[in-house]
Amino acid sequence: MNDKNLDHYNKANLGFQMDLAKQGGFDTNVDLEFIYPHIKNSGTILEVGAGFGRCIDFLLKKGYKGKIIAVERSFPFVSHIRETYGKMPDIEISDEDIKTFTPKTKIDAALWMWSIFIEFSKEQQFHSMQNIYHMLNENGKVIIDIPRLGIKTIGKHLDAKNLVWESPFGSLTCYIPDEDEMRELAKKIGYKEIKSLYYKTSQDKERTVYILVK
Ligand SMILES: C[S@@+](CC[C@H](N)C(=O)[O-])C[C@H]1O[C@@H](n2cnc3c(N)ncnc32)[C@H](O)[C@@H]1O
Repeated sequence: MNDKNLDHYNKANLGFQMDLAKQGGFDTNVDLEFIYPHIKNSGTILEVGAGFGRCIDFLLKKGYKGKIIAVERSFPFVSHIRETYGKMPDIEISDEDIKTFTPKTKIDAALWMWSIFIEFSKEQQFHSMQNIYHMLNENGKVIIDIPRLGIKTIGKHLDAKNLVWESPFGSLTCYIPDEDEMRELAKKIGYKEIKSLYYKTSQDKERTVYILVK
């Protein structure tokens, strides 16, 4: 599922994606302000799917002093973030797929912001979270931000959890897990804690954030 979604990101332009952030109410970084207290003391943060660099920009403006590893596999986006942040000493940018990526050093937090997690099938969600578990230091955290289950999104809802969004550049197929599935996934992999938090974006979109602790 995740590989088929690549088409949209490889063809989409930065302006389109930035506009989408505005429509969703992410341009104000309300999501990042919400989760920042949980990650601000992390020595190394891995961002999964860094897009046009919204989270990197936020962390820098916040004065975050640790290391950032940004993984972004789509060409237009990775070339943009490389140009903008690639020469900064504490920022490492990788064009690899998170499904196969291994960092050179352990990390303290992994960020999956603005729905990237739901662009993976249930099986891919499990395997990615298992891979991330092995990258984390003890007490390391994973932050996952997804739409609140049951809320109408821009996609066409096939049922409660499956949706497809036909963008002008390709279709994005998504799977929104429920809280029981997330707890089961965390327990099976070995995370010692999982909690769910709720907030609304600046466009009143209801969201769930999961915080998993190794
Ligand atoms: C909705 S955007 C989120 C951007 C960013 N996290 C933010 O909050 O602004 C999802 C991004 O994840 C990237 N992506 C999707 N699957 C990926 C994968 N398997 N490995 C690396 N990047 C991926 C896409 O190319 C896209 O840029």
